[in-house]
Amino acid sequence: MRIILLGAPGAGKGTQAQFIMEQYGIPQISTGDMLRAAVKAGTPLGLEAKKVMDAGQLVSDDLIIGLVKERIAQDDCVKGFLLDGFPRTIPQADAMAENGIEIDHVIEIDVPDEEIVKRMSGRRVHSGSGRVYHVVFNPPKVEGKDDVTGEELAIRPDDEESTVRKRLGIYHEQTKPLVDYYGKVAAEGRTQYNKFDGTQSVSKVSEQLADVLK
Ligand code: AP5
Ligand code: ZN
Repeated sequence: MRIILLGAPGAGKGTQAQFIMEQYGIPQISTGDMLRAAVKAGTPLGLEAKKVMDAGQLVSDDLIIGLVKERIAQDDCVKGFLLDGFPRTIPQADAMAENGIEIDHVIEIDVPDEEIVKRMSGRRVHSGSGRVYHVVFNPPKVEGKDDVTGEELAIRPDDEESTVRKRLGIYHEQTKPLVDYYGKVAAEGRTQYNKFDGTQSVSKVSEQLADVLK
């Protein structure tokens, strides 16, 4: 099964990806997590990406497309994969189509901007794995610690309110057009498109996703 998760920053893509990965045994390909790993490792790609990410902007299409193509070619993606945060521009979606990569499900998680701004201040992440928590809505078992490793949770550098607002602006400008793009692909019967209300609880959204994916 090949799935794309589409949604604004903070809509809950990473959160629902955790559920889908566990439920369906397909790998999550999060371009954001891959870039953050490169930043942490201090690779040339990471050094280049850090400035762009901290400013809330998008890294170049060429760089991201190369990264995803390489990842999808790995053995664990044979049975399918879950794309989280990719594609997020029309050229990125075109690159998928040009490479003959068909998608079974496009899942849009919809949350209004103001809700997102409120949400982001409570996000905590485990940087090693990309696991996501929220201090109120999705708290870890032990405050400030990752459920699996017990390691410290962190705040993402791009979660500061002014950066979140910048990221939302870029989402509406460059990523939102993909809603129409995949709507058309679905109308041609080449994928299934479903939109979910991401203001519901984490478990409610997961339940509705499971209904569509079964
Ligand atoms: P990326 O890491 O992909 O960030 P994003 O798309 O901005 O999305 P987020 O990770 O912020 O949000 P999410 O939807 O995963 O929400 P989450 O589940 O964490 O990208 C980061 C940067 O990398 C980009 O800005 C860009 O620079 C670069 N980049 C990445 N991909 C790129 C690409 N393809 N092209 C170019 N550049 C790229 O949830 C958020 C919070 O809400 C959490 O605290 C969570 O616990 C909570 N929450 C989740 N669901 C609910 C719910 N239902 N109710 C209440 N709280 C909830
Ligand atoms: Zn995410």
